[in-house]
Amino acid sequence: MLHQVFEVGSLLQPNGQVPPPQPLHMVQASAPGKCILFGEHAVVYGQPAVAVAIDQRMTVSLEISDVWRIDGMRFSPERHPHVESLKQRLWANGPSLSIKVNGDIPPASGLGSSAALSVAASAALRCARGRQIKDDDWGEGWTAARPNAVYTGPWDVEQGDSVQTGKDSVDVDECAILSHAVEASAQGGRASPLDSSTCSHGGCIVLSDKVESDLNWIYSRTLNDVSWEVHAVDLPKEIEDVWLVIGNTGIHAPTSEQVAKVARLLENEPGRMREIETIGIISRRGIAALKEGNMEGVGRAMSENHLLLRSIGVSCSELESLISAAAPSSLGVKLTGAGGGGCMIALTRNPKETSEAIELAGGRTLISKIAAHGLIVDSDDNSPLWNPFE
Ligand code: PMV
Repeated sequence: MLHQVFEVGSLLQPNGQVPPPQPLHMVQASAPGKCILFGEHAVVYGQPAVAVAIDQRMTVSLEISDVWRIDGMRFSPERHPHVESLKQRLWANGPSLSIKVNGDIPPASGLGSSAALSVAASAALRCARGRQIKDDDWGEGWTAARPNAVYTGPWDVEQGDSVQTGKDSVDVDECAILSHAVEASAQGGRASPLDSSTCSHGGCIVLSDKVESDLNWIYSRTLNDVSWEVHAVDLPKEIEDVWLVIGNTGIHAPTSEQVAKVARLLENEPGRMREIETIGIISRRGIAALKEGNMEGVGRAMSENHLLLRSIGVSCSELESLISAAAPSSLGVKLTGAGGGGCMIALTRNPKETSEAIELAGGRTLISKIAAHGLIVDSDDNSPLWNPFE
């Protein structure tokens, strides 16, 4: 659905009155960032990883424009590979758009900024063009069964077909699939669906190499012969009493380097696989504590998880000093994501105190509740910006 906003012209009419407002159609959608509570690195070897959506979000808005623009500048496919990839899938031959991206997720810090952008952009583009419906089913669209489908048109609507428009045409799974596909293509074919699923569905998502019987399985994902089972976790009301404080070291350490470092360690010392398996055991214990609302147990599992991440070599002195500063006021502390820099998280009942301690130690902080809302489409109108089915 479309947001109708009114632009008040700057020129006054000859009679001195402000001209009547002109409707300006705009579609807007937003998606949250994520952080990993348990299981980073071990997930590469099949162990479960747990991520939660955070309060920080990316918002994408679209309007028809004379030329392609992003944030007022000429659109450059090289600078915005995720948006370019989505444009090719959802907006081939569509009219030029002006895209605005706003948000408070720091880029390249392991908090899912590119997945959140991709999820929000997928939803906005889908909403802005609608979807063809054939025989009560999608005439085109991406599902877990056809994640790499290519739809080129022509988009003739036959008798009995209809076009779903606006918010009703947006599907959360489809946005997760598209976001995963464009993340993978922007990262040379490698990406787990953890970010895309968490930023799309919101809440708490668990990825594993097998179906976890005590969790809500949502779907399987396969990319380049690697498969993941994606689950959601129902969280109890006790999560309302705790916060995550995210401390950013400001150091950029590419995920691929940290993953390669762990791979080298395991190649040279195969016995260290025990530590990876122990992370898996801790993740499962953390999930059980989360489900029971035992926040002390969740915190303990986070801190234990961190000791193992440190032992496999993915922490660094800057992360350690933020973690030491946060520990006294927290239930649990650990690095989050690939490590080597990037961010740490603290689970706390005293977010102000924990945040101040991290900042005194030199980190920049963000505060979030656990398990924020997933994709949201803002809308108040129901006509597409472009109708490819006409
Ligand atoms: O950098 P992030 O937050 O996307 O986390 C990477 C997580 C790893 O387990 C280290 C890598 C992966 O592909 O799962």
